[in-house]
Amino acid sequence: MTNRYAVILAAGQGTRMKSKLYKVLHPVAGRAMVQHVIDQLNTVKLDKMVTIVGFGAEKVKEQIGQESEFVIQQEQLGTGHAVLQAEELLKDKKGTTIVACGDTPLIKGETYQALFRHHEESGAGTTILTAKTDKPAGYGRVIRNETNEVERIVEHKDASESELLVGEINTGTYCFNNQALFAALQEVSNDNVQGEYYLPDVIEIMRNQGEKVSAFLTSDFEETLGVNDRVALAEAEKTMKKRINEKHMRNGVSIIDPDHTYIEPDVVIESDVIIYPGTILKGKTIIKTNAEIGPNSEITNCSIGEATIVKQSVANDSKIGDRVNIGPFAHIRPDSVIGNDAKLGNFVEIKKTELGDNSKVSHLSYIGDAEVGTNVNIGCGTITVNYDGANKFLTTIEDNAFIGCNSNLIAPVKIGKGSYVAAGSTITDDVPEDALSVARARQTNKEDYVTNLKSRKKD
Ligand code: UD1
Ligand code: CA
Repeated sequence: MTNRYAVILAAGQGTRMKSKLYKVLHPVAGRAMVQHVIDQLNTVKLDKMVTIVGFGAEKVKEQIGQESEFVIQQEQLGTGHAVLQAEELLKDKKGTTIVACGDTPLIKGETYQALFRHHEESGAGTTILTAKTDKPAGYGRVIRNETNEVERIVEHKDASESELLVGEINTGTYCFNNQALFAALQEVSNDNVQGEYYLPDVIEIMRNQGEKVSAFLTSDFEETLGVNDRVALAEAEKTMKKRINEKHMRNGVSIIDPDHTYIEPDVVIESDVIIYPGTILKGKTIIKTNAEIGPNSEITNCSIGEATIVKQSVANDSKIGDRVNIGPFAHIRPDSVIGNDAKLGNFVEIKKTELGDNSKVSHLSYIGDAEVGTNVNIGCGTITVNYDGANKFLTTIEDNAFIGCNSNLIAPVKIGKGSYVAAGSTITDDVPEDALSVARARQTNKEDYVTNLKSRKKD
């Protein structure tokens, strides 16, 4: 098989984004655009991947990590100049080089694969991935001759009026005979409106050298969107969202309103889950069968058990068991582990806490840095007082304990098995097993106090 290489162009600043964040790092469905390109390219077997970096090089390298080699393009003199930076690493190699842009996040691995195949089978020197659209503004246009062969690409800014009417565009993705590419790049000039070395000029150069130039027309323009500004970024987001949501629906997930459901690419959802509108599922979240999520819930890096219900709530970096009831309006902060059949009700915040099976925190409580056993009932308005202004301390509540409403548990403290804490208590010392602890001022009733007071009132 022919060796395959990839060059990814990611050195531009992306002026049209009007952003401090470098263009290719702008996220689509929570993932940097250039990462989407690399992930999809990785579905094709490649012998080498080289990413051209320039603006924000360190940040882009940090994002991509070990997956690619990097070459710096010191000055951004155009896409042709950018590819030329990989000369040292690639020019002597025999095989096919795909050039992809870091700002086309929607192109699928299967399209890259089809382009490679088409190129390798046709024996062309260059194969351009093209698409047809009735809105070609901004893209390079594919100019064909009378026999329908591709002659050259003309950039929007350099195009004549008749060329601007052409609806076939250059997607910015190409396969090249590697050695022919680097030979042709030597001849690219910057004699154009933008004063840049254009990569697409290679096509005309190769043609003049007698190389075959081929085009692979994809039927899906949507997939080839180049993101140059925030309008296109929003469009990419919309297409990616649709793609991800449809994948889950085909796998048996009910999404009530796919236009208002946002799921990142790594999220795993089992069949028969129902997702209500306004739900955002991020990171490495896993949702088990029969769970119901939303409306209006944001879940990041959590595992949600079978038949668990999460309504109007936020959860991060936590594990939630089966048949748990969460919300409305609960906040599960990182490192929490919620047992099976547990409940976290309205306005409950929980952090770095293990809550055992069948334990309930139904209303208006803060439980942080705690270990809570099974069958524990935590009354409304309970607070684990975990912070003394310098350090955090642990609260332990053992199995079957019952915490009365409006209690403060001043950590470090342990509430023993089966014990009761009376409502309104401020607990500073450990409570023994099966005891009742009352830690509040005693009530005194002053008989007739009000009557006497009113009788002393002057007119
Ligand atoms: C480019 C193509 C155009 C095509 C469009 C598809 C050229 C001259 N034009 O235009 O025909 O229709 O893509 O989306 O190639 N980059 C560098 N170094 C540079 C310049 C750019 O690495 O010196 C990178 C950018 O970071 C970007 C990619 O190359 O990821 C494309 O550059 P961009 O300026 O967006 O080109 P377009 O104007 O969109
Ligand atoms: Ca672009």
